[in-house]
This record gives sequence, structure tokens and C-alpha cells, in this order.
Amino acid sequence: MRPNATRGGPVRVGRSTVLVTGGLGYIGSHAVPELLDRGWRVRILDNRYRCDADAADALCAMPGVDLVEGDVRYPHAVDRAVQGVEAVVHLAAVCINKSIADPAESLDVNLMGTQHLLDSVSRHGVRRVVFASSASVYGNATQLPMREDGPVDPLTPYCTAKLAGEQLLAFHAQRSALTWLALRFFNVYGPGQPTDAFYTSVILTFVKRLLAGQPPVIDGRGDQSMDFVHVADVARAIGLALDSDASGESLNVGTGRQTTVAELAERLVVAMGADVVPQFRPREVLVARREASVERIAEVLGWRPRVEIDEGLASVLDWIKQHRA
Ligand SMILES: NC(=O)c1ccc[n+]([C@@H]2O[C@H](COP(=O)([O-])OP(=O)(O)OC[C@H]3O[C@@H](n4cnc5c(N)ncnc54)[C@H](O)[C@@H]3O)[C@@H](O)[C@H]2O)c1
Repeated sequence: MRPNATRGGPVRVGRSTVLVTGGLGYIGSHAVPELLDRGWRVRILDNRYRCDADAADALCAMPGVDLVEGDVRYPHAVDRAVQGVEAVVHLAAVCINKSIADPAESLDVNLMGTQHLLDSVSRHGVRRVVFASSASVYGNATQLPMREDGPVDPLTPYCTAKLAGEQLLAFHAQRSALTWLALRFFNVYGPGQPTDAFYTSVILTFVKRLLAGQPPVIDGRGDQSMDFVHVADVARAIGLALDSDASGESLNVGTGRQTTVAELAERLVVAMGADVVPQFRPREVLVARREASVERIAEVLGWRPRVEIDEGLASVLDWIKQHRA
């Protein structure tokens, strides 16, 4: 029997430590328990810039977790956190909204923070890095599904930093023992999702209106689409990527299924048993569409999404009901 893993992890005698930067955030709060289950000790580096304080405290109280409070912008803080770890999951970043409002800060954290981390990782002989990249590196897709070997078109400093992060991984790996995978997350949703998330906040907006007995309001015809991937599936992808030997590529983490905003509204109306009809607000809307190709991640990691959209939306509703004052 595996000594440390309780769920699908590798045999690891004497638990190794993985550093999770940004581990107190939304995805981190799901990924950290997954990594513990896979037999890792987890050290979190986070400056508490954007996290739910109660969820963060609960995470830090888990056996096998320790927190280094610090900022990826400061090489000393990064060095302190990297010492003694075997691997890193790099999630720390400021979000896309912030990057539009403050490009310099966004690049400082998302680009220079990644450079500081990879420099430290290379010097300390860390074996493995899993990097949180983003589907936003593709820009407004001209072809669907979005494939990893298809065109990229980063449209904001956030997207530029994500693409550059992937390229910096290749640069540092040439000069060190580092192996790596970058995961291009699509629209991550599920329990605990931030209320101000750039793409997925539409779910919470619609739910709030429905809870107030009002119909969801859809801009334009609602045919802009997203590829919603559940945070539990994302956490599992992170765990698989960390424990894999595959290296040197970027993999989509999506479902391969588009959900339009109009369809989302309909699904939520049904899920909540609401007696309303979604309303349309005529206006010019940039009709962006997203759909991941998920063939490559299935080949490399054997990962396939498990949570269907209706089940995933139900998990968000349950979470909202539990946390409503
Ligand atoms: N959520 C999504 O839909 C999505 C989609 C694509 C990519 N991503 C990427 O996945 C990663 C995790 O996303 P998330 O949704 O959990 O974001 P989040 O904002 O919930 O979490 C980010 C964490 O990083 C920490 N952080 C921010 N700046 C820091 C700094 N300078 N030093 C140390 N820690 C810092 C925050 O305190 C927070 O705990 C990010 O890199 C994000 O860009 C997320």
C-alpha cells in the first residue's frame, strides 16, 4: 500500500514538499487538499493579497501544510520559500481585471514574480514546476477548438505575462534540472469562486438575481460562450501534472464544450426551479467564443473533465446557499 497517498498519488516514501505559490487563492484552496491527498507536504507562499480569510485559515490548519507569508515580487522571500522543496506549483498572480487597470503592477507580479521564482528554482535544483497559464493567451479565437499548437494572441498584460511565463520555463529548463508543464486553464468555476472573476462572475450575477426572484439579464443575444471547467477537475489536473514525468509543453485544461451566456441563464433557471424567463438587453457585444481542445492533455496526463456543467452549477448553488448570511 502507498505510504502517504490516499487518493491516486504516486508512491512517495518520506513526504516531499511542494511549494504552492498563491496557494491561499481560489484554485489553491482546491489544489492544496488534492496535493496532500497525493502524498505531498505543502508549503504555501502567499501575500494574502486576494484570499478568503476563513478559507485560508482552514487550509493552513491542515496537517502537512505550512505558510510562508511573502510576495513573489521579492527574490529573498521567494528564495526562503523555495529552500528544501522538490517541486513548485506556481499559481500566484494578479487577475486580468487588475492587469487592465494597472499594467505595471500586473507585470511586476505576474512576469517578474515568475522570473524570480524560476531563477530561484533553477539555483536550488528544484525538479519540477507546474505553472498556471491561461486560455487568455489565445486572445479572441479565430478557430475552435483552441489547440495548444494553434495561434496565440495575448491582448492584455496579464495574457502577455502568462505566455512569457511559459517561455521563461523553457529558458530556465535549458539551464537546469527543471522539468515543467504549463496548464492553460479555461473558465474555472465552482464552490468558493471569487465574486469579481473576469469571466465566471456571470454565474454569480445570474444566481443573485434569481435568488432575488428576478430574471437573469443577458447582454446582446447571449451567444458569447465560455468553456467552463470545474475547479475540482482543475485541482486534479494540477496533481496529475505535478506527478507526471512529461515536460516542456503547455496543455489546455477545459472541457471541450462551449456554454453560451444564454444557455447558462437557462440552465440556472432550471437548476433553481425559478419561475422566470431570462431577459435580453439589446446592445453591441463582442461575441467571443471559447472551446478548448482537450485531446493533448488526455494523451499526456490521462486527464479528462469529470464534472458536467449541471452538476458543477449545482455545486456553486449549494455553496452559495451555505454561505448566505
Ligand atoms: N480562476 C480562473 O478562471 C483562472 C483562469 C486562468 C488562469 N488562472 C490562473 O490560475 C492561478 C490561480 O488563480 P485563482 O483563480 O486561484 O486566483 P486568486 O486570485 O484566487 O488567487 C491568487 C493567489 O495569489 C496570491 N497573490 C497575488 N499576488 C501575490 C504576490 N505578489 N505574492 C504572493 N502571492 C500573491 C493571492 O493572495 C491569492 O491567494 C492564477 O495564476 C491565475 O492567473 C485562473
